[in-house]
Amino acid sequence: MAALPEPDPAAIAAFFARVPGRLGPPYLGQTLAFYRDYLGLTRRQHAEFGPVYKNRVIGMETVALLGPEANRFLLADAAGSLSSRLGWDWSLGKLFPRGLMLRDADDHRHHRRILQTAFQRDALAGYLEPMRPRVAALAQAWPTGRVATHPRLKAFLLDLAARVFCGLTLQDEIAALNAHFAAVVRASTALLRRAVPGFAYARGLASRRELAAFFADLVQTRRDSPGTDLLGRLCSAVSDDGERLQDAEIVDHMVFFLMAAHDTTTSTLSSLLRELALAPAWQERLREESRAFARGGAISLERLRELPLLGQAIKETLRLHPPLVLVPRRTLEPVEFAGWRIPAGVNVGISTAFTHRMPELWTNPEAFDPDRFSEARAEDRRVPFSWIPFGGGVHVCLGMFFAEIQVKLVAHHLLTALHWKTIPGWTAPSCQVPIQFPSDGLPLDFAHV
Ligand code: HEM
Repeated sequence: MAALPEPDPAAIAAFFARVPGRLGPPYLGQTLAFYRDYLGLTRRQHAEFGPVYKNRVIGMETVALLGPEANRFLLADAAGSLSSRLGWDWSLGKLFPRGLMLRDADDHRHHRRILQTAFQRDALAGYLEPMRPRVAALAQAWPTGRVATHPRLKAFLLDLAARVFCGLTLQDEIAALNAHFAAVVRASTALLRRAVPGFAYARGLASRRELAAFFADLVQTRRDSPGTDLLGRLCSAVSDDGERLQDAEIVDHMVFFLMAAHDTTTSTLSSLLRELALAPAWQERLREESRAFARGGAISLERLRELPLLGQAIKETLRLHPPLVLVPRRTLEPVEFAGWRIPAGVNVGISTAFTHRMPELWTNPEAFDPDRFSEARAEDRRVPFSWIPFGGGVHVCLGMFFAEIQVKLVAHHLLTALHWKTIPGWTAPSCQVPIQFPSDGLPLDFAHV
């Protein structure tokens, strides 16, 4: 591939001077509003400036591109003019270096080819086996009364990912991993982005080092007898030119994977339980479907398709509460979008959360209405790139089928064992960045069915 031209600071400055929007105070920009209510901020800026505008968050100047056409432009990127690595570098570069999302072009293709062998049908069926009894046991042991649902799900799903992807079983180790992952994810949107001791960013970097050391030891122990889980597949993978992945590369992938594998599904399940607490009629409809499903025999990959209403409810949850509310890139060369010529070296970002509630795309967009995803209505198929919780194009989520299996399995078992409702006075507060989650831990009132 020919070397790309160096970004021209004068061209970037001239572009930012022309594009509408407000950068706000130096460094801080709109950071506080971004933390407080990302979607509200995006809607206000859209109303004032239209679908293409500049803003500044935590010292980073970005041009927002809103709507399905923007999503297509950024995600499809047929010409390879946009960099995922440089787009994510600011938030994740030092915390999840060389993870799959932080690779571009040939380097990305090479690593994705190796990693995707761990997500083919036979591999997914293999992950389902050890998950089934554990998820059934989770539902049986779930306490009744008031339960802080989000931390319970998070600890469980990391445990599950650590077991099925790398064979870990020790509770203490998994609890320590959980704390380190939480520190690294928190650091991704820390205001102070220097390693000042005692502050979130420094804690995140320290936790990253701990995670890297932990997985480096694990790789050593697995090189000789790799096995068929994700870690085993990475240890034994051989590229087209006969090369094996280096230990450090496997460590980088595992750290990124385990984060991606449990934080996003925790977010989805929490949001689903929240919506079903607020919509008891839907909770009951899904319970009926799950009861009939349970009578149909053992759960297999194929049989999970027999939960269509649950599938629709998960899609609707991901529409209203996408775990990743935005997707960033940086331009590698001048590109054209919506009449704008954007020079090389500009950070651009699309908004999943904004698109998913656009009144032009969705009927009654604020309502939880899983029927909008029924075959008869299929609102997501009316306009391409209007439903994008898993992204799209070459970086489309590698774990999306695994996520669907896991979320369906957990939801199915919870629905057949328990019912749950809201607690009086609860306001359902949520945080949208870095990953959408209930900021009060999602207290819900559970009872056995
Ligand atoms: C509901 C759950 C999930 C959601 C909403 C989600 C969302 C996303 C999104 C939006 C991207 C694309 C980011 C971009 O284009 O810059 C992505 C990429 C990725 N996700 Fe997920 N994800 C989920 C679950 C998972 C799981 C369970 C795994 C692993 C088991 C996983 C692994 C990955 C990986 C490795 C990438 C990078 C792909 C690449 O760059 O080629 N995700 N995910």
